[in-house]
Amino acid sequence: RSYRVAVVPGDGIGKEVVPEGVRVLEKIAKRHGFTLKLDWYDFSSCDYYLKHGRMMPEDWKEQIGGHDAIFFGAVGWPARVPDHVSLWGSLLLFRRDFDQYVNLRPVKLLPGVPCPLAGRKPGDIDFMVVRENTEGEYSSIGGKMFPGTAREFVVQETVMTRVGIDRVLKYAFELAQRRPKRHLTSATKSNGISITMPYWDERVEEMSKGYPDVRWDKYHIDILTANFVLHPDWFDVVVGSNLFGDILSDLGPACAGTIGIAAAANINPERNYPSVFEPVHGSAPDIAGQGIANPIGQIWSGAMMLDHLGEHEAAGAILTAIERVLAEKTLRTRDLGGNADTVACGKAIAEMI
Ligand code: NAI
Ligand code: MG
Repeated sequence: RSYRVAVVPGDGIGKEVVPEGVRVLEKIAKRHGFTLKLDWYDFSSCDYYLKHGRMMPEDWKEQIGGHDAIFFGAVGWPARVPDHVSLWGSLLLFRRDFDQYVNLRPVKLLPGVPCPLAGRKPGDIDFMVVRENTEGEYSSIGGKMFPGTAREFVVQETVMTRVGIDRVLKYAFELAQRRPKRHLTSATKSNGISITMPYWDERVEEMSKGYPDVRWDKYHIDILTANFVLHPDWFDVVVGSNLFGDILSDLGPACAGTIGIAAAANINPERNYPSVFEPVHGSAPDIAGQGIANPIGQIWSGAMMLDHLGEHEAAGAILTAIERVLAEKTLRTRDLGGNADTVACGKAIAEMI
């Protein structure tokens, strides 16, 4: 087995944590008998922008579109390049042009990680957020009318297509089917949003008929956010529209500890295009260059990438190594109350493997 991976470190701490992710990936590949062919790219970074006047070269799609996956760090350096320029010129192009309609974030409380929710222990919090990543509330249909007059108003349409909803629901139900609890929760707001959200509910109901072994329920987004905090143990797979999923996929990882360990994937399930695996955090300019960033979010993203590539055992082994290093508490980065640096933490996890 051999996989071609495009490695895109990006900006700030991306350049520090990606090499640790790669260290762990190379170690696990050797252990589990597969080959990773890594191609490194310097674009999708603000440094590249300052040199070339754009975030990525014109032929970026040709350069990385043929890879099996993209291992991404973080992009953004607001003091030099405005965020809407850097993110829209890179990461958001990946999502759109590579049709990555599933945004997946694990929410799992790991041993030894201080939990912001009182009294929760590992095992209490272990679920996945599935966010629709291409349509819904984030459409560009709408506009401002009569600007500057007393009649001024703005409109922005939500667009939900049957194909768009069904494909993300299918992904979520199949994911639930593979997990021991086989439970799916849908985020809705059909009591207030009277056209699109009842349609979303209708599609969930319809889709559920194909998965009789998956138990499912739905909550309005307002009480659902409260339940993430009050009853995180109620959830297994949680699926939401673009906006609701966005909110839940930040709230979820925050309930399970620090941003330095949270991982994410932008997935094209059909594999017509490569998927992007990245930590939840950004480039953290405030600590960049000091070698103190926590590399675990990046390393965990590497595990998600291997899972996507079909190397499930290797993916599980990475997570086990992360959990062991965290549980031992001897080697942890500053955000977790220790004083280990990025490289030492990466090496400890690689050695654990
Ligand atoms: P951020 O996630 O970069 O940082 C937020 C806070 O968390 C900072 O105090 C930072 O030091 C800390 N932090 C983040 N990752 C850490 C790690 N691995 N270890 C220890 N501490 C960590 O978010 P912020 O500051 O809002 O954004 C900075 C830049 O990153 C902006 O340009 C933003 O647009 C970009 N960004 C990019 C993302 C991406 O590439 N997917 C995602 C989020 C933000
Ligand atoms: Mg967000």
